[in-house]
Amino acid sequence: MLQMRLALQFVLLIAPLWFKTATQAAPPPLSPQQFRKFLLGDRDRPWIEDFYGSDKYLNDEDKNAFKQRLIGVTLGEKLSSPGAVTGSFNEGMYMLGADYNAKDKKYEASEVVVKILYGPVDGKILGEVKALKDVGYFIASGLLPSNGKPAMLMKKIDGAQIKSTGVWKKANQSGREELLNQMKLLVKNEIVTWADEKRLLHADFTSYNIHVTFDKDDSIKTCRVLDFGFPGIFRVGTSATKSDIEEWFELQWNNRKQW
Ligand SMILES: Nc1ncnc2c1ncn2[C@@H]1O[C@H](COP(=O)(O)OP(=O)(O)OP(=O)(O)O)[C@@H](O)[C@H]1O
Ligand SMILES: *[C@@H]1O[C@H](CO)[C@@H](O)[C@H](O)[C@H]1NC(C)=O
Ligand SMILES: [Mg+2]
Repeated sequence: MLQMRLALQFVLLIAPLWFKTATQAAPPPLSPQQFRKFLLGDRDRPWIEDFYGSDKYLNDEDKNAFKQRLIGVTLGEKLSSPGAVTGSFNEGMYMLGADYNAKDKKYEASEVVVKILYGPVDGKILGEVKALKDVGYFIASGLLPSNGKPAMLMKKIDGAQIKSTGVWKKANQSGREELLNQMKLLVKNEIVTWADEKRLLHADFTSYNIHVTFDKDDSIKTCRVLDFGFPGIFRVGTSATKSDIEEWFELQWNNRKQW
């Protein structure tokens, strides 16, 4: 009887506690090496150097990207596209609620998105700003006066994640394959050009990180890769030729994750 009571007590009191910790315990954070392995696997190459925000690539200007407050920003609606909600390194993507006056240019609210990050500022965040500058999407960065969080303003990329589009949803198997073939060519062009000309390797082309628009006949019109955050961006070493990069792209595309 005592044994039964003890057993019952275990089930009622201890087991739920154990179950709770066992199912809710956060996984230990991955190391940069583990992120690299996860992303590149057997597509890792000697010419793929460190993460873009590695200290050795950052100059003084890069390091000062969040030394000032980001003033004059009115946040609008939060973006709710998948991947925007569950970012592991950012706390949210927002539209602007009002136009923004950058140093040398005025931006309409509809041309800009805001990415708000978890502090403190580190190489991961500095690397994202650097990458945005290098591909020409950067508008401004700094700490938000309201809460001190690091935020960056970037040019809004047209289109939507393909899986959220009506064209994709109604396409059959062969239609989707055709759409993917069209996308692949456009993504390849963008990735290889950045790698060859800017020495910036975007390796994280999940479906969440690509925006597409369609022509009237439902073929892909434009296809743009976004998300320059850690751990997706690497520095391309000087030894890499354009054909090295093209070859790598084919393999990485065939092994792409989260589609
Ligand atoms: N420049 C942009 N223009 C328009 N939409 C964007 C832009 N950047 C991001 N988005 C949208 O917001 C979503 C989330 O942004 P992003 O991919 O940069 O962050 P994340 O993957 O959520 O976060 P992280 O990888 O840093 O944890 C994207 O999937 C995309 O749909
Ligand atoms: C798939 O869809 C296309 C275009 O709508 C159509 O022409 C084709 O016959 C369909 N294929 C199959 C196998 O159903
Ligand atoms: Mg993303």
